[in-house]
Amino acid sequence: MPDLEKPDRYAVMGYPVSHSKSPAIHQQFASQFKDNIDYLAIEVNPGEFTAAVNRFHANGGRGLNVTVPFKLEAYQLADIHTPLAQLAGAANTLRFRDDGKIEAHNTDGLGLARDLGRLLGVPLSDDAACEPRAAFAGKDILVLGAGGAVRGVLGPLLMQAPASLTIANRTLARAKELAWMFHVRACSYDSLAELSGRGFDLVINGTSASLQGQSLPLPAGLFSPHALAYDMMYADRPTPFIEWASRHGAGQISDGLGMLVEQAAESYFFWRGKHPDTAPVLENLRKRH
Ligand SMILES: NC(=O)c1ccc[n+]([C@@H]2O[C@H](COP(=O)([O-])OP(=O)(O)OC[C@H]3O[C@@H](n4cnc5c(N)ncnc54)[C@H](OP(=O)(O)O)[C@@H]3O)[C@@H](O)[C@H]2O)c1
Repeated sequence: MPDLEKPDRYAVMGYPVSHSKSPAIHQQFASQFKDNIDYLAIEVNPGEFTAAVNRFHANGGRGLNVTVPFKLEAYQLADIHTPLAQLAGAANTLRFRDDGKIEAHNTDGLGLARDLGRLLGVPLSDDAACEPRAAFAGKDILVLGAGGAVRGVLGPLLMQAPASLTIANRTLARAKELAWMFHVRACSYDSLAELSGRGFDLVINGTSASLQGQSLPLPAGLFSPHALAYDMMYADRPTPFIEWASRHGAGQISDGLGMLVEQAAESYFFWRGKHPDTAPVLENLRKRH
């Protein structure tokens, strides 16, 4: 009699978090498997994250998604870290294990790689974390931004064996820190024009500039023919970056809604060992968008 049982409790914690689509996404995943889950969006004030996690855990919570600005704290409070969390030094997913330990994972990079693979016609297999397919082999990638999200995606992007990966950020020191960690190139927006050469095949906006409705100071000539411009942000209408990319020669454009659904599916798998079908969930969200 499954519906008489208590639902398994999950939540997303962030600040702010009221806009989150994660509850709707996870409820749709659960209904695919007839799983009885409860998934909440919990707004947590900065400085109160650890206490909120401990409270949720003590009240029988099974797992959490973690969003801005708590991904580094989530990594630090965990007892155990998956290789992808270690690579990022940040966590967007926590699992409360039966032995009482908290395990941290980062599904952002796998989610992005899966969505990019779909867009580029090279879908990743279910064991993509172990054996990624070379969707970007030989491609030149530019990543804009050096915050928590970019930290999470660099490892999985590099596993795809690109020809080069460059990070550009407003605060150059943060780009340099990531470049040092991941052995890639860092630059400021001012020096991008000199570095773009034949143009980048894939340009990923991992900044939160679009969130504030702001444009980035990008030079013309950034894109190679057929380049994909990808904004990790998603919104009801085209973001400033997507608008700029359409006017400046990107062959293909996409927002980050697919990444959101794919990273959620990886979290679901981490918690419950089941891979949801993401296509109908993404289609549903696009209809409501
Ligand atoms: N689709 C998904 O599933 C998904 C998942 C994760 C994140 N995201 C999105 O990714 C974006 C970044 O998130 P995050 O967690 O990395 O945030 P974060 O840690 O706060 O980092 C923000 C980054 O954006 C840069 N930035 C902010 N405002 C800027 C501006 N006006 N001009 C130029 N650069 C600016 C910052 O540069 P400085 O270092 O100079 O401050 C920093 O590199 C957000 O839009 C978020 O919604 C999407």
